[in-house]
Parts: sequence; structure tokens; C-alpha cells
Amino acid sequence: MKIRPRRNRKNEAIRSLVRENIVTANDLIAPLFVLGGTGIKDPISSMPGQFRFSVDILVKEVKELHNLGIKCISLFPAIDEVLKDSWAKESTNPNGLYPQAIKAIKDACPDMMVMTDVAMDPYSSDGHDGFVDPKTGEIVNDQTLEILASMAITQAQAGSDIIGPSDMMDGRVGFIRSALDQESFQGVSIMSYSSKYASSFYGPFRDALDSAPKSGDKKTYQMDFSNSREAIREALLDEKEGADILMVKPGLPYLDIIAKLREASNLPIAAYNVSGEYAMIKAAAEKGWLDSEKCMVEMLTSFKRAGCDMVLTYFAKEMALLSR
Ligand code: PBG
Repeated sequence: MKIRPRRNRKNEAIRSLVRENIVTANDLIAPLFVLGGTGIKDPISSMPGQFRFSVDILVKEVKELHNLGIKCISLFPAIDEVLKDSWAKESTNPNGLYPQAIKAIKDACPDMMVMTDVAMDPYSSDGHDGFVDPKTGEIVNDQTLEILASMAITQAQAGSDIIGPSDMMDGRVGFIRSALDQESFQGVSIMSYSSKYASSFYGPFRDALDSAPKSGDKKTYQMDFSNSREAIREALLDEKEGADILMVKPGLPYLDIIAKLREASNLPIAAYNVSGEYAMIKAAAEKGWLDSEKCMVEMLTSFKRAGCDMVLTYFAKEMALLSR
């Protein structure tokens, strides 16, 4: 045999020379949960190692992440049940928990990029990402756009660097882009959750925010997991509407979509390695069935290999610590 591929794997030195993809803190975005009160670090039972932080503790966590080389966090609010209504009014309260948290982070750690979530579900008494018609139960697209745009402006005013529309309404990227520009927020980016599937892997996240739909499911706006052409269609629409970065969500069961999108668009691509993907590994590790650290590195590398530029992952801190 003249050709022996094993020669390029014969020791760690050669393996590191031929290595095509690595994950560093530069690739990672850390999702974080904020709740009201002070001095709170409340563990999320279905996501071992993840917490709901009150703003004072959250700020310390953000500084720690920044010291580890993490450049961006993605923030989600756990809103008090009494503040939820069908219009998600609390989402546009400039003195609400979310704007307060964004301001506190930017004051304490101005170099940390803060990505904020645009969707109604954390504030909605219906637990849906869009406005629910009380008569028909339908998620009303165009009325929702108005709410999402004011939400985005409230977040930009508080200091958000990147708006992350995760709602999957039609036309929302263009609508939000125009609204931001009209208010002179031309410099605020949009990372669109462009190919977001109706997935059962979001379960632990919905526990963390108590945001599961009160009735029905999200299948009229999030995508059918049987489809891939539709994902590219959604992503290219978001690109045309002005998205700066595209996202595929969930991550691991959708690596094929990432690879296809890499061919179809020249925009940077993010994957969201969602709560259920994190919980699976943590749960198996607790049972002694998997090595959590090794599976983390393998899984995060698979996103880079598939064509991602960045990954939103609950493993961000662990991975940053490891790759120091
Ligand atoms: C909702 C939203 C969800 C996630 C991020 N934004 C859940 C959903 O669509 O129901 C899930 C993230 C995760 O599971 O880690 N706008």
C-alpha cells in the first residue's frame, strides 16, 4: 500500500497539524437567564450547572465569562407570572427586569456583547411567541410584528448590541430592521433565528422560564423537522430582509441544515446548541454513562465542522475554561 491515511494520525503532534477545526472561546455565545430580586442564583433542575441569576449576581457571572474570553452573552428573562398578559406589555416597559439587566451588564462590562431575545413567550400569558387571537386561538402574524418591533427598540435603548428575533413570524427581520433604523439604531445587529424548528429539545428552557404554551403547540410558526429546503428558504428571506447573522436551531439534530446553509449563504452562521442537547449529556454523565467534557468538545467541534462560525451553548463557560 502506498496510501496509508493512518500516517496522518500516528501521534498527537501530527494530528494537531492536520486538524481542520477547533473550538475556542471566540466561537461561543453563552445563554444566561435573569430573574427579579437580589442575591439569587437559582439552579435550573433540568439543566445541571445552569442558573437563573438576579441582576447583581448576573453581572458578576458576565465579568467572569468575559475574563474567560467569552465575547457575547444571550440573555433571557424569567418574568413574574403576574406581569404576563396576552399582549406581552411588560416586554416594552423600559424599567422592566430585562432592560435593567441589559443596562447593568453594559455598565459593568461594556466590552461584553449583549444579544437580546425578541419573541413574546417570556411575557405572554398564552406562552406563545406571537399574539394569540382570543376567539380563534390563531397566532396573528402582522399584529405580532408591531409588538416585536417595540420590544426590539426597548432592548436597543437599554444597550442591546444584537437583536435576536426567535419568534418565526413572517417578515419580522425586515420589520424590526426598519423600526431600529427609524429610531437611529443603525448600528444594532440582527442575529435572526432564521431556521428554527418546532422541537421537543426546548423542554428544559421552557422549564427555566416557565414559558411553555398554555394551549396548542408552536407548529404554525416554527418549522416542521421533516423539511430542509424550507429552512434554506427561511434563511435566505432573513438575509434579504437585512439579517447580519443567520442561525439554525436546534443544533445537533440539524447539522445537515447548517452544512446546506453554508453553501447557500455568505453570511456568518450560528447554531443554537439548545437546552435539551445540554440536558441529554449532563443527565447521561450523572449516570456515569458518558464523559460530559469529552462529549462537549466533540459536539461543539461538530458545529464548526458543519460550517458554523459561532455556537450558542450552555457549555460556553465549561468550554472556555477548558480551552484556556
Ligand atoms: C422562544 C425561545 C425558545 C428557545 C429560545 N427562545 C423556546 C421556544 O421556542 O419554545 C429555546 C432555547 C433552548 O431550548 O435552549 N422564543
